[in-house]
Amino acid sequence: MKLTTTTIPPSQMVDHLEIFNCPICRGDLDMSAESILCKDCTYEFEIKDGIPLMFVPNDWDKKKKDVTLDMKSFYEGSPFPNYEDIDDVGTLMKKSNDGIFAGMMNEQIPFNIRVLEVGTGTGQLSNFLGIAKRHVFGADMTINSLELAQGFKEKHNLNNVGFYQMNLFKPIFREKSFPVVICIGVLHHTSDPFKGFQSISGLVADNGYIIIGLYHKYGRLITDTRRRVFNLTGDRFKWLDPNLKNLEVNHTKKMSWFNDQYKNPHESKHTIGEVMRWFEKTGFEYIYGIPNPVLSEKFSRRDSLFKKHKSGSYLDRAIVQLKMILTGSREGGFFILIGRKKKLRI
Ligand SMILES: C[S@@+](CC[C@H](N)C(=O)[O-])C[C@H]1O[C@@H](n2cnc3c(N)ncnc32)[C@H](O)[C@@H]1O
Repeated sequence: MKLTTTTIPPSQMVDHLEIFNCPICRGDLDMSAESILCKDCTYEFEIKDGIPLMFVPNDWDKKKKDVTLDMKSFYEGSPFPNYEDIDDVGTLMKKSNDGIFAGMMNEQIPFNIRVLEVGTGTGQLSNFLGIAKRHVFGADMTINSLELAQGFKEKHNLNNVGFYQMNLFKPIFREKSFPVVICIGVLHHTSDPFKGFQSISGLVADNGYIIIGLYHKYGRLITDTRRRVFNLTGDRFKWLDPNLKNLEVNHTKKMSWFNDQYKNPHESKHTIGEVMRWFEKTGFEYIYGIPNPVLSEKFSRRDSLFKKHKSGSYLDRAIVQLKMILTGSREGGFFILIGRKKKLRI
């Protein structure tokens, strides 16, 4: 997709400047005709093809493992997902609605609010949610993915959507700026998923929601076995993965899936209980989950994503999660939890 080569700050950023801050010092920002300036540390961020380049690396202790730059170059070479079979807004809507959870979010996230998607990748979800009247901010560190996202946005005049290059450990947004923050399939590709969660959960407004999707410890077992087979056989037997067997999916999309699932330099796995503990530690309460952690309650497309549901007993959760060994492999072994930030009473 051809991008306009504009270096002008995106109009979304101009309109919502008050929610942005410098990722280096968290100071206020100012706009010039061609760049973004920090009023405090005076750092100047460039804009490429309408995308503010505001990624800054971590400044962690040297002894702490940091995969950020490795992951960045991996996704630069293999942007995920991609738009090969999505060429207009109608197809994007159809594919996203077929994805059920994206459709549920689109039906239930209110209009006219700010939504942040962290780790937007090639921006399908952000562009989809921005078709309706919402202000959607898609942030990711991978510029090649963001350019695909921006290309689609520009081609289809999705003016409520903006894309930003950002390291989720160094947010370009102020604390409590968003009633909804979505982060699906991202934190398990970082060296410190809980630290990442702490960073992005700070961006959620009081009483706002965080939607987290992560690889599950048991849901990935079959995928891990396939990965071993591929590694031992020089990537033969690709038909073992049902997504790679699907004749309706084109080659580029299959390769994007294959690389993301089987050639990824780093992934970690998690459990429902673990993320519930993250919620407790950061002042969130559990609202809803897929799979449903209550054994007797089944998932329905009509479930309310933002109404408080029961979190299930320890036994419920253990059985639900064990079932993921068999059911998890097709969708990549994901689970999703939604939490609400409790307003602190002083
Ligand atoms: C598997 S893709 C998920 C894309 C999208 N959320 C989806 O579900 O299709 C993971 C994305 O996380 C991004 N990512 C990983 N670590 C990040 C970090 N520290 N800061 C920002 N983005 C990051 C990668 O660039 C990549 O686009």
